[in-house]
Amino acid sequence: MSGDEAGGRTGTEDGALRPWSGTKVVGAAEPRIDGAERVSGGAVYTRDIALPDMLHAAVLGCPHAHAELTRIDARRARSMPGVRAVLTAFDAEAEMLVPGPWWIADGPPMRLLERHCRFAGEEVAAVAADTLDQAREAARAIVAEYRPLPFVVDAEEALAPGAPAVHEGGNLVRPPARFNNYSRGDVVRGRDEAVAVVDGVYRTSCLIHSALEVHGSVARWDGNRLTVWDSTQGVFDMQQYLAQVFGLPLSAVRVIGGFMGGGFGGKAELGRSTVLAALLARRTGRPVKLCLSREETFRSAGNRPPNALAVRLGARADGTLCLLELDNLGAVGAYADLAFAGPQTAELYRCPNVRYAEREAFTNTGKARAMRAPGFPQFAWAVEQAIDELAGRLGIDPVELRLANVPDESQLLPGLRFTSSGFARCLREGAEAFGWQTARSRPRDHGPRRRGVGMAAAMWDGAGGPPATAIVKVFPDGSAGLNTGAADLGTGTKTVLAMIVAEELGVPLDRIAVEHADTATTQYAQLSGGSTTVTNNAPAVRAAARDARRQLLELAADQLGVEPSALSLGDGAITSAVDPAAKLAVSELKALREQGVLVGIGRRGRNPEGLLSYSWAAHFAEVEVDTRTGKVHVLRLLAAHDSGRVMNLLSYRNQVFGGVAMGIGFALSEERVVDPRTGKVLNPSWQDYHVPTILEMPELACLPVDPGDELCNTVGAKGLGEPATIPTAAAVANAIHHATGVRFRHAPVTPARLLEGLARRYAEG
Ligand code: MOS
Repeated sequence: MSGDEAGGRTGTEDGALRPWSGTKVVGAAEPRIDGAERVSGGAVYTRDIALPDMLHAAVLGCPHAHAELTRIDARRARSMPGVRAVLTAFDAEAEMLVPGPWWIADGPPMRLLERHCRFAGEEVAAVAADTLDQAREAARAIVAEYRPLPFVVDAEEALAPGAPAVHEGGNLVRPPARFNNYSRGDVVRGRDEAVAVVDGVYRTSCLIHSALEVHGSVARWDGNRLTVWDSTQGVFDMQQYLAQVFGLPLSAVRVIGGFMGGGFGGKAELGRSTVLAALLARRTGRPVKLCLSREETFRSAGNRPPNALAVRLGARADGTLCLLELDNLGAVGAYADLAFAGPQTAELYRCPNVRYAEREAFTNTGKARAMRAPGFPQFAWAVEQAIDELAGRLGIDPVELRLANVPDESQLLPGLRFTSSGFARCLREGAEAFGWQTARSRPRDHGPRRRGVGMAAAMWDGAGGPPATAIVKVFPDGSAGLNTGAADLGTGTKTVLAMIVAEELGVPLDRIAVEHADTATTQYAQLSGGSTTVTNNAPAVRAAARDARRQLLELAADQLGVEPSALSLGDGAITSAVDPAAKLAVSELKALREQGVLVGIGRRGRNPEGLLSYSWAAHFAEVEVDTRTGKVHVLRLLAAHDSGRVMNLLSYRNQVFGGVAMGIGFALSEERVVDPRTGKVLNPSWQDYHVPTILEMPELACLPVDPGDELCNTVGAKGLGEPATIPTAAAVANAIHHATGVRFRHAPVTPARLLEGLARRYAEG
């Protein structure tokens, strides 16, 4: 639909547009447009913000896993040097409710500061002072007295009769109906039909997002208007939450994003610390900065919840699946959030008889938050290992077994087809590029070391959709500006979106400035989550650029006295198909100089009716297991992805390799350890919680499989960020099984677990 057809609505929608058939800029390996700022230290992150008269804040957390705060004495803290304000759980403001994310319909309320503390680290007081050291020292000087309560840190124990209640009403989270239960066909018939059935219980550990940049906010009041600089995945979401909390109109709340050092889902909801910063700023009449410490991010800024997944799979003799069952139990922690793992059960493979049931339990631990493909890597850890086992049972190659079960349409929403599916190609071409057949049959014995290869697959719905609005400006010198509200979590969003402007207008990237993630000055964008930043916003940017181009051609047509349809735009100049002599540089457009700037507006159109846009992936891993030390080294890993069009080859590879790194941590080393006797996190640091380093990273290969999707949206791209981490851990576990003959069902496979597993196998003979 063109702007005119849109009938009075501002700007253009992209509905009728097809993705590019050929591109000059999009798809290239372009370095980040903000790369020099990032690596030189010039980039300003929330933590770097320094405002005149700004105060620094620190938080006091409850030391007990479950306790009632009976008394708090802040007199000494208030009299300490530099201290400007102290808020405690006994103040009236402490009763303010921090809204949960929109995907949690009706969890128990979270008060700003809590007297009934439900996890070790739960916030009970906050201090603002002239310096951070003063604030921290004063927080430590607050005398808090508690009545400790019995607590529970394990989901299964939390649901046992007589368990301590985290919330009144019991520890079973009221199910959000849209996720938790599903069935089709007849699982009893499925079991009867099967010639091979495998079942097992798989466990995953609690993981911490571990964004390089910690969570942080700076708040300032100007009269009744609140401005918050925030490390957030969605400035407009935070604006809404803050307006709700403070009873302000949206127009009185400005949220500014800017440079981010990662989010991974952990910065997708409003945290207490942001509200505390705003409240302390209001109390003191001065701007307040509150950044979490690394330790605090481990205790209270969210996690990927631990899951226990009971899986049963069955197949017919030809390898087609006839049974798929999953029972999941996840621990959300002290407040409701995502601990489900089921959705892929319904969609990843073709299977007539499917059932999954999920339960989520409250525990006295830090709360879960969305984390890179919530639930999906946990599902893959269980089901993708079970499929591997089933392949072994049937004597079918694991790649072939998956190929025999590739769905050709949705089974969750019967009758709906996919805009494209490169799933089979990911499996086939991935296997080919990895050298699967050869590697699979190579000798596994290398003295005390053993080698093996394994693979796993995944799907993800990152279709995105409206709303999104973008503005593209063209200045009289031919340079351009892009204005979008989207956050750039560090993924390269700014660069990818600018490349679309460059593609459409022929303006070089270094002449395009990007303004983004500011509710006061940029256009509406949804939360950057669900791998939808590109699929939400790129079509709006393309529509805006085309709106700007249309206007440029009209101005040029007027000046040249020709029809706009005879003109085309490229390399900063407008040329005529009819008269090659009629050529105008954008900088020669008189009307543009007179009007000062030209503004193109674009909006995200709707997705096609009756179609689903999924991303697909297959990861292939080769590992070496040292049977003396229990250490697993991933030697190489190939990631084949159908995420539609590659928008920028460098940031695409970045996303994939980052996802793989997280997956390797999931498989081998990352585990938040909570002491069952004290309920405290024992390893709240990167010293003791092992994120993979460059030393643990394998030789990496990324194989983009582009099905040439003409339907998903107007740029042809599908979601990438999350699929990149879904199958990795399962592929590594399958490789470990191939190397050792032992199936490891408890992630991560630490050296201790590995040696235990080997010992058990030797004991069993
Ligand atoms: Mo993501 S876990 O949807 O931010």
